[in-house]
Amino acid sequence: MNDIKVTKIEKSRVKDFDFSNMPPFGHAFTDHMFVADYIDGEWKNFEIKPLQNLSLHPANLTLHYGQTIFEGMKAFFTDKNEPILFRPKDHAKRFKRSAVRMSMPEIPEDLFLGAIKALVKMEINWIPKEVGSALYLRPFMIAMDDVIGVKPSKTYKFVLLTLPSGPYYSRPLSLKASMNFVRAVKGGIGEAKTAGNYGASLYPFNLAKELGYDQLMWLDANEHKYVQEIGTMNIFFVIGDTVVTPMLDGAVLHGITRNSIITIFKDNGYKVEERLISTDELIKAYNKGQLKEVFGSGTAAIIAKIDKLDINDKIMTFDTETFKVADFAKKYINDVRKGIIEDKYNWIERI
Ligand SMILES: Cc1ncc(COP(=O)(O)O)c(C=O)c1O
Repeated sequence: MNDIKVTKIEKSRVKDFDFSNMPPFGHAFTDHMFVADYIDGEWKNFEIKPLQNLSLHPANLTLHYGQTIFEGMKAFFTDKNEPILFRPKDHAKRFKRSAVRMSMPEIPEDLFLGAIKALVKMEINWIPKEVGSALYLRPFMIAMDDVIGVKPSKTYKFVLLTLPSGPYYSRPLSLKASMNFVRAVKGGIGEAKTAGNYGASLYPFNLAKELGYDQLMWLDANEHKYVQEIGTMNIFFVIGDTVVTPMLDGAVLHGITRNSIITIFKDNGYKVEERLISTDELIKAYNKGQLKEVFGSGTAAIIAKIDKLDINDKIMTFDTETFKVADFAKKYINDVRKGIIEDKYNWIERI
């Protein structure tokens, strides 16, 4: 993609940015953004420009009916100081799937990747070099029609934001199984990265937070019995000598980290099962001393260990210092990202 109009900021803020003492995730942005418009059935007006507000009509369809999707991924430096992306084509594919589910136009892979590479190249000095830090990339698409009425928009805007971010979830997390509220139902929008899933989670999440928990563990919508995932992560258990994770049942997000670590485990001799996991099974395994590890997987943290799991007031605690399986996966992915071990699955994309 060569036809990007570029307008540079007069003076970059990067020199004044303290990478060793970054604000919390989501608060700091780089100098520029990428934007494109979908008008008359095609993507056009590709532009990199100084980060600025969008102008929206008050009837903008996204504001009223939530026709919007997003992705989250990261750019890093390898140990050889090469800027790279981790599985960006898989993020492009998931973005497409989300678009289809939300009746939005697909973004061609070369536009998605071209925008990312062009903006990251321009913001290269914003990629943090500190261990565990990265440049977080937030591509999103919103409906732009300014007509009140529930129907798909005819016009859209694609925007890419880049945010320097420090290490995420460095401490173990506590989880509470959500017995009264659900995140997603088969046939709903759980597999799409769309705003509604996250907006709907805020109220139950706050209730759990008031009780002192870091995150909710979502259960299936029909029986409130089978585990689905965590707030913004997929979930894994080590039961006996087997790594177990909920199968993709039509309501769970197809996590790219989830897929990466399943691949790594299978290739390294671990027994892995993707299947239904009931809360009863977890409690029984815990009581028998067989529930060895619980951890979440996601782009933000790669792996977040769980030290406390509450299922209907049955409190289970874990010594995360002993989590060998979680550590193996985290180290493997980190080493691929750093370029220390061979990228045999072609997950790394150079910028
Ligand atoms: C609901 C949900 N589940 C799981 C994940 C983990 O997905 P990934 O590994 O692709 O970051 C995310 C983050 O994108 C998420 O928002």
